[in-house]
Amino acid sequence: MERLCITGGRPLSGTIAASGSKNAALPIMAASILAQQPVRIDGVPQLRDVCTLADILRSLGIRVSRLEDGGLELATVDSVSLDSVPIDSLPVRADYELVSRMRAGFCVLGPLLARRGRAVVSLPGGCAIGDRPVDLHLAALTALGAELKVEHGYVVGRAKRLVGAEVQLSGPRGPTVTGTANVLCAAVTARGQSVLRGAAIEPEVVDLGRFLNAMGARIEGLGTSMIAVEGVDQLGGARYKIIPDRIEAATLLLAVAITGGRATVDGLVPQHIDAVLAALERSGCRIDTTAHSVCVAGPQRPRAQDICARPYPGIPTDIQAQWMAFLSLAQGRSTIRDEVFPGRFMHVAELKRLSARIETPDTGRGDGCVVVEGVERLTGATVTATDLRASAALVLAGLAAEGETVVRDVYHLDRGYEGLDVKLSELGAEIFRRR
Ligand code: EPU
Repeated sequence: MERLCITGGRPLSGTIAASGSKNAALPIMAASILAQQPVRIDGVPQLRDVCTLADILRSLGIRVSRLEDGGLELATVDSVSLDSVPIDSLPVRADYELVSRMRAGFCVLGPLLARRGRAVVSLPGGCAIGDRPVDLHLAALTALGAELKVEHGYVVGRAKRLVGAEVQLSGPRGPTVTGTANVLCAAVTARGQSVLRGAAIEPEVVDLGRFLNAMGARIEGLGTSMIAVEGVDQLGGARYKIIPDRIEAATLLLAVAITGGRATVDGLVPQHIDAVLAALERSGCRIDTTAHSVCVAGPQRPRAQDICARPYPGIPTDIQAQWMAFLSLAQGRSTIRDEVFPGRFMHVAELKRLSARIETPDTGRGDGCVVVEGVERLTGATVTATDLRASAALVLAGLAAEGETVVRDVYHLDRGYEGLDVKLSELGAEIFRRR
């Protein structure tokens, strides 16, 4: 098992580029099942989750190749074989072994139903960040005419041609992101019009919609909670460049801020992280923005503040743990809530091992408000990563802590960050990977 060894206390400086967005790349890759010509996606980051989804797509008969220039080419059987292969002979099973490793594997359900008329997709199962149901996906796909049942841990679905319908994609905690992706992919070739109400407005969903439009779909209202889709008979191919990773960019900015350094993250879309930039300013950071870059200068100690993670355009849940690391060094008391995943606080116990003072009032429901009493210094220790964003929070805390911090189980980090340790080291951090 690889671990990261970090010697804290080096203020970060310099310029670093953001990678392509993981959460845009994954549903876009899954949507290539719909394409009847080859698809080429630029900016897909080199990540474990991308490799896992590529394996799922290969198991579904899709050719996935990394090109020399870093682009990803996906070719469906329709586009590579001139002697047309009967669509019923194509595989439609996404196995538990792969889908349980990465929930985004469930994003093949909508495209499979739409293109192949059948799907056997493993339910994703448990996850370290809390309950993650898929009821909204299933209800909306059923409304589009799919016949779905859950058997032996799999969603087994059939559909002749899906039919446009009005569907609801918001649940008690707000809109579902991958649910919107699944349903959008199903609706683009359904007969007639679909209206997706309560749709997610995250930039990654907008990116998927643009990709589908580039292949010939007719989608309007992207970036609003009501998306209208006029079904088309078929989709062609496309060449598409995905958006930069706003979560990675925000993580890098917080890494700079926590060390009291000054550095620039380049190649991002600053508006995608408006809420994060405003909160950084409130905490005492200096922020300078251009059209494609953000320079942050961290304060000596951040000011305490109350943070609540919400759906876009709020502060993303995927950056909540990193905020906790930052605010653990604040002057004063902060509170942190997560409205999207109210129990996503696995990092608390590990941050405490680095001398953070954090309390989770026990409400019995795991949806409390976490109270962070800022301390003057953190102290290095060995900690264990429990999930992707929790690992990032531990790395950030390690950059600021006195002495050495060892973050174990780095594979979580590699699922979703493209060489985070390499990027931090380019900014002057003392961070090494060891077995
Ligand atoms: N929900 C339901 N029913 C559903 C689906 C979701 O009640 O059928 C609830 C969830 O329990 C949660 C809320 O709705 O409380 C939002 O969940 P959502 O479905 O939006 O999450 P997701 O689509 O499974 C994506 C990202 C996550 C990110 C969330 C929230 C991808 C591949 N994953 O997950 O990313 O945290 O949206 O923004 O896009 C990460 O990158 O570390 C990560 C976990």
